[in-house]
Amino acid sequence: MVNIRRATISDLMLMQHCNLNCLPENYNLRYYLYHGLLWPQLLHCAEIPGKGKIVGYVLAKMEDEDGDAPHGHITSISVMRTHRKLALASNLMHASERSMVENYGAQFCSLHVRETNTAAKHLYAQTLGFLKADQEKGYYADGENADYMKMPLSPPMFPHPHAEIQRRREEEQRRKAEEARRVKEAAEATRSEASKDEAGQAQEKPAKGDHAKVPKKKKH
Ligand SMILES: CC(C)(COP(=O)(O)OP(=O)(O)OC[C@H]1O[C@@H](n2cnc3c(N)ncnc32)[C@H](O)[C@@H]1OP(=O)(O)O)[C@@H](O)C(=O)NCCC(=O)NCCS
Repeated sequence: MVNIRRATISDLMLMQHCNLNCLPENYNLRYYLYHGLLWPQLLHCAEIPGKGKIVGYVLAKMEDEDGDAPHGHITSISVMRTHRKLALASNLMHASERSMVENYGAQFCSLHVRETNTAAKHLYAQTLGFLKADQEKGYYADGENADYMKMPLSPPMFPHPHAEIQRRREEEQRRKAEEARRVKEAAEATRSEASKDEAGQAQEKPAKGDHAKVPKKKKH
Protein backbone atom coordinates (compact mmCIF):
# COMPACT_ATOMS: atom_id res chain seq x y z
CA MET A 1 0.00 0.00 0.00
CA VAL A 2 1.14 3.55 -0.71
CA ASN A 3 -0.09 6.68 1.10
CA ILE A 4 -0.33 10.09 -0.51
CA ARG A 5 0.19 12.75 2.13
CA ARG A 6 1.40 16.30 2.61
CA ALA A 7 5.20 16.38 2.76
CA THR A 8 7.09 17.87 5.70
CA ILE A 9 10.56 19.38 5.85
CA SER A 10 11.93 16.03 7.04
CA ASP A 11 10.75 14.39 3.77
CA LEU A 12 12.72 16.72 1.53
CA MET A 13 15.91 14.64 1.36
CA LEU A 14 13.99 11.52 0.31
CA MET A 15 12.05 13.56 -2.25
CA GLN A 16 15.34 14.80 -3.65
CA HIS A 17 16.56 11.19 -3.78
CA CYS A 18 13.47 10.21 -5.80
CA ASN A 19 14.03 13.15 -8.15
CA LEU A 20 17.69 12.18 -8.71
CA ASN A 21 16.53 8.67 -9.65
CA CYS A 22 13.85 9.79 -12.08
CA LEU A 23 14.69 13.06 -13.81
CA PRO A 24 17.61 14.93 -15.37
CA GLU A 25 16.27 18.21 -13.87
CA ASN A 26 17.74 18.20 -10.36
CA TYR A 27 17.84 20.86 -7.68
CA ASN A 28 19.90 21.48 -4.58
CA LEU A 29 18.27 20.94 -1.18
CA ARG A 30 17.94 24.69 -0.69
CA TYR A 31 15.44 24.80 -3.57
CA TYR A 32 13.32 22.09 -1.94
CA LEU A 33 13.51 23.99 1.35
CA TYR A 34 12.44 27.20 -0.41
CA HIS A 35 9.28 25.45 -1.67
CA GLY A 36 8.67 23.75 1.68
CA LEU A 37 8.96 26.96 3.67
CA LEU A 38 6.97 29.20 1.33
CA TRP A 39 4.21 26.83 0.15
CA PRO A 40 4.20 23.92 2.64
CA GLN A 41 0.63 22.94 1.70
CA LEU A 42 1.55 22.24 -1.92
CA LEU A 43 4.28 19.61 -1.43
CA HIS A 44 3.04 16.03 -1.35
CA CYS A 45 4.70 12.65 -1.30
CA ALA A 46 3.79 9.03 -1.92
CA GLU A 47 5.08 6.98 0.99
CA ILE A 48 5.19 3.28 1.82
CA PRO A 49 3.87 3.43 5.38
CA GLY A 50 6.02 1.96 8.12
CA LYS A 51 9.04 1.77 5.84
CA GLY A 52 9.84 5.47 5.66
CA LYS A 53 10.31 5.07 1.90
CA ILE A 54 9.20 7.78 -0.50
CA VAL A 55 8.36 6.51 -3.98
CA GLY A 56 6.92 9.69 -5.49
CA TYR A 57 6.57 13.41 -4.87
CA VAL A 58 5.20 16.61 -6.29
CA LEU A 59 7.00 19.91 -5.75
CA ALA A 60 4.84 22.95 -6.48
CA LYS A 61 4.66 26.69 -5.89
CA MET A 62 2.37 29.70 -6.33
CA GLU A 63 2.94 32.40 -8.92
CA ASP A 64 1.20 35.72 -9.52
CA GLU A 65 3.67 37.74 -11.56
CA ASP A 66 2.86 39.75 -14.72
CA GLY A 67 -0.57 40.70 -13.39
CA ASP A 68 -1.70 37.10 -13.97
CA ALA A 69 -4.42 35.60 -11.80
CA PRO A 70 -2.97 33.70 -8.80
CA HIS A 71 -1.98 30.28 -10.03
CA GLY A 72 -0.03 27.25 -9.00
CA HIS A 73 2.96 25.90 -10.90
CA ILE A 74 4.26 22.34 -10.81
CA THR A 75 8.02 22.59 -10.39
CA SER A 76 8.66 18.83 -10.47
CA ILE A 77 6.87 15.50 -10.16
CA SER A 78 8.15 11.95 -10.39
CA VAL A 79 7.37 8.41 -9.32
CA MET A 80 9.95 5.63 -8.88
CA ARG A 81 9.97 3.06 -11.74
CA THR A 82 8.92 0.32 -9.30
CA HIS A 83 5.66 2.14 -8.55
CA ARG A 84 4.56 3.60 -11.87
CA LYS A 85 1.12 3.20 -13.50
CA LEU A 86 -0.59 2.90 -10.11
CA ALA A 87 -2.22 6.34 -10.37
CA LEU A 88 0.29 7.78 -7.87
CA ALA A 89 1.23 10.73 -10.10
CA SER A 90 -2.45 11.48 -10.82
CA ASN A 91 -3.22 11.47 -7.09
CA LEU A 92 -0.18 13.58 -6.22
CA MET A 93 -1.27 16.13 -8.82
CA HIS A 94 -4.86 16.17 -7.50
CA ALA A 95 -3.63 16.65 -3.92
CA SER A 96 -1.42 19.58 -4.89
CA GLU A 97 -4.07 21.22 -7.09
CA ARG A 98 -6.67 20.91 -4.31
CA SER A 99 -4.26 22.67 -1.90
CA MET A 100 -3.60 25.41 -4.48
CA VAL A 101 -7.32 26.17 -4.61
CA GLU A 102 -8.13 25.75 -0.92
CA ASN A 103 -5.12 27.60 0.49
CA TYR A 104 -4.27 30.17 -2.16
CA GLY A 105 -7.38 30.60 -4.34
CA ALA A 106 -5.45 29.44 -7.41
CA GLN A 107 -7.41 29.92 -10.62
CA PHE A 108 -5.28 27.66 -12.75
CA CYS A 109 -2.28 25.38 -12.63
CA SER A 110 0.65 25.55 -15.05
CA LEU A 111 3.70 23.42 -15.83
CA HIS A 112 6.45 22.70 -18.35
CA VAL A 113 6.95 19.31 -19.94
CA ARG A 114 9.49 18.00 -22.44
CA GLU A 115 8.05 17.65 -25.93
CA THR A 116 9.17 14.00 -26.03
CA ASN A 117 7.93 12.98 -22.56
CA THR A 118 5.03 10.75 -23.69
CA ALA A 119 4.17 9.41 -20.23
CA ALA A 120 4.01 12.85 -18.60
CA LYS A 121 2.12 14.35 -21.55
CA HIS A 122 -0.47 11.56 -21.31
CA LEU A 123 -0.81 12.19 -17.57
CA TYR A 124 -1.27 15.96 -18.01
CA ALA A 125 -3.38 16.10 -21.17
CA GLN A 126 -5.43 12.88 -21.16
CA THR A 127 -5.75 12.05 -17.46
CA LEU A 128 -5.84 15.51 -15.91
CA GLY A 129 -7.09 17.80 -18.70
CA PHE A 130 -4.18 20.23 -19.15
CA LEU A 131 -4.01 22.09 -22.46
CA LYS A 132 -0.89 23.27 -24.28
CA ALA A 133 -0.78 27.07 -23.97
CA ASP A 134 2.61 27.76 -25.51
CA GLN A 135 5.88 26.26 -26.67
CA GLU A 136 9.16 27.40 -25.13
CA LYS A 137 12.03 26.75 -27.48
CA GLY A 138 15.25 25.40 -25.91
CA TYR A 139 13.74 25.55 -22.42
CA TYR A 140 15.72 22.58 -21.09
CA ALA A 141 19.48 22.55 -20.46
CA ASP A 142 20.05 20.09 -23.34
CA GLY A 143 18.14 22.36 -25.74
CA GLU A 144 14.88 20.40 -25.87
CA ASN A 145 11.69 22.43 -26.26
CA ALA A 146 9.05 22.55 -23.53
CA ASP A 147 5.30 22.57 -23.84
CA TYR A 148 3.86 25.11 -21.41
CA MET A 149 0.53 23.66 -20.25
CA LYS A 150 -2.33 25.07 -18.21
CA MET A 151 -5.44 23.79 -16.53
CA PRO A 152 -8.22 25.92 -15.00
CA LEU A 153 -8.97 25.23 -11.33
CA SER A 154 -12.08 26.04 -9.30
CA PRO A 155 -13.45 25.08 -5.85
CA PRO A 156 -16.28 22.85 -7.22
CA MET A 157 -13.62 20.59 -8.74
CA PHE A 158 -12.57 19.54 -5.26
CA PRO A 159 -15.66 18.49 -3.27
CA HIS A 160 -15.04 17.69 0.39
CA PRO A 161 -15.16 13.94 1.17
CA HIS A 162 -17.66 14.53 4.02
CA ALA A 163 -21.13 15.22 2.62
CA GLU A 164 -22.20 17.61 5.41
CA ILE A 165 -19.11 19.82 5.05
CA GLN A 166 -19.53 19.80 1.28
CA ARG A 167 -23.22 20.81 1.69
CA ARG A 168 -22.18 23.74 3.94
CA ARG A 169 -19.50 24.80 1.47
CA GLU A 170 -21.99 24.80 -1.40
CA GLU A 171 -24.48 26.79 0.69
CA GLU A 172 -21.77 29.36 1.46
CA GLN A 173 -20.83 29.58 -2.25
CA ARG A 174 -24.50 30.10 -3.20
CA ARG A 175 -24.85 32.81 -0.52
CA LYS A 176 -21.74 34.61 -1.80
CA ALA A 177 -22.91 34.37 -5.43
CA GLU A 178 -26.34 35.76 -4.45
CA GLU A 179 -24.71 38.64 -2.53
CA ALA A 180 -22.42 39.43 -5.49
CA ARG A 181 -25.46 39.43 -7.82
CA ARG A 182 -27.34 41.87 -5.53
CA VAL A 183 -24.34 44.22 -5.28
CA LYS A 184 -23.98 44.15 -9.09
CA GLU A 185 -27.67 44.91 -9.59
CA ALA A 186 -27.57 47.79 -7.11
CA ALA A 187 -24.50 49.25 -8.85
CA GLU A 188 -26.21 48.99 -12.25
CA ALA A 189 -29.37 50.65 -10.89
CA THR A 190 -27.32 53.53 -9.45
CA ARG A 191 -25.48 53.93 -12.77
CA SER A 192 -28.69 54.03 -14.80
CA GLU A 193 -30.29 56.54 -12.35
CA ALA A 194 -27.20 58.74 -12.68
CA SER A 195 -27.29 58.62 -16.47
CA LYS A 196 -31.05 59.46 -16.45
CA ASP A 197 -30.31 62.50 -14.24
CA GLU A 198 -27.54 63.61 -16.59
CA ALA A 199 -29.83 63.27 -19.61
CA GLY A 200 -32.54 65.30 -17.81
CA GLN A 201 -30.08 68.06 -16.94
CA ALA A 202 -28.84 68.18 -20.54
CA GLN A 203 -32.43 68.68 -21.78
CA GLU A 204 -33.06 71.54 -19.36
CA LYS A 205 -29.83 73.30 -20.42
CA PRO A 206 -30.48 75.66 -23.40
CA ALA A 207 -28.78 74.55 -26.59
CA LYS A 208 -26.39 76.89 -28.48
CA GLY A 209 -28.31 79.52 -30.39
CA ASP A 210 -31.30 79.26 -28.07
CA HIS A 211 -30.17 82.31 -26.08
CA ALA A 212 -32.65 84.53 -27.93
CA LYS A 213 -35.51 82.47 -26.53
CA VAL A 214 -34.32 82.88 -22.93
CA PRO A 215 -36.02 85.95 -21.47
CA LYS A 216 -33.45 88.61 -20.59
CA LYS A 217 -33.33 89.83 -17.02
CA LYS A 218 -34.80 93.26 -16.61
CA LYS A 219 -32.32 96.01 -15.73
CA HIS A 220 -33.35 98.11 -12.77
C1 LIG B 1 5.21 10.73 -15.70
C2 LIG B 1 5.10 9.96 -14.39
C3 LIG B 1 5.19 10.96 -13.25
C4 LIG B 1 3.75 9.24 -14.36
O1 LIG B 1 3.63 8.61 -13.09
P1 LIG B 1 2.60 7.40 -12.82
O2 LIG B 1 2.40 7.32 -11.34
O3 LIG B 1 3.03 6.21 -13.51
O4 LIG B 1 1.27 7.97 -13.51
P2 LIG B 1 -0.19 7.44 -13.27
O5 LIG B 1 -0.16 6.01 -12.83
O6 LIG B 1 -0.94 8.41 -12.41
O7 LIG B 1 -0.78 7.45 -14.75
C5 LIG B 1 -1.48 8.54 -15.29
C6 LIG B 1 -1.81 8.24 -16.73
O8 LIG B 1 -0.61 8.23 -17.51
C7 LIG B 1 -0.51 6.99 -18.20
N1 LIG B 1 0.89 6.61 -18.29
C8 LIG B 1 1.73 6.39 -17.27
N2 LIG B 1 2.94 6.03 -17.77
C9 LIG B 1 2.81 6.02 -19.12
C10 LIG B 1 3.70 5.71 -20.18
N3 LIG B 1 4.97 5.33 -19.95
N4 LIG B 1 3.25 5.85 -21.45
C11 LIG B 1 1.97 6.25 -21.71
N5 LIG B 1 1.09 6.53 -20.73
C12 LIG B 1 1.52 6.41 -19.45
C13 LIG B 1 -1.29 6.01 -17.37
O9 LIG B 1 -1.70 4.90 -18.14
C14 LIG B 1 -2.45 6.86 -16.94
O10 LIG B 1 -3.37 6.99 -18.01
P3 LIG B 1 -4.96 6.84 -17.84
O11 LIG B 1 -5.37 7.86 -16.80
O12 LIG B 1 -5.47 7.15 -19.21
O13 LIG B 1 -5.18 5.43 -17.39
C15 LIG B 1 6.21 8.88 -14.26
O14 LIG B 1 6.25 8.15 -15.45
C16 LIG B 1 7.57 9.47 -13.98
O15 LIG B 1 7.96 9.66 -12.83
N6 LIG B 1 8.36 9.74 -15.03
C17 LIG B 1 9.72 10.30 -14.87
C18 LIG B 1 9.66 11.70 -14.33
C19 LIG B 1 8.88 12.64 -15.25
O16 LIG B 1 8.90 12.52 -16.45
N7 LIG B 1 8.19 13.60 -14.61
C20 LIG B 1 7.41 14.57 -15.32
C21 LIG B 1 8.24 15.78 -15.57
S1 LIG B 1 7.32 17.02 -16.43
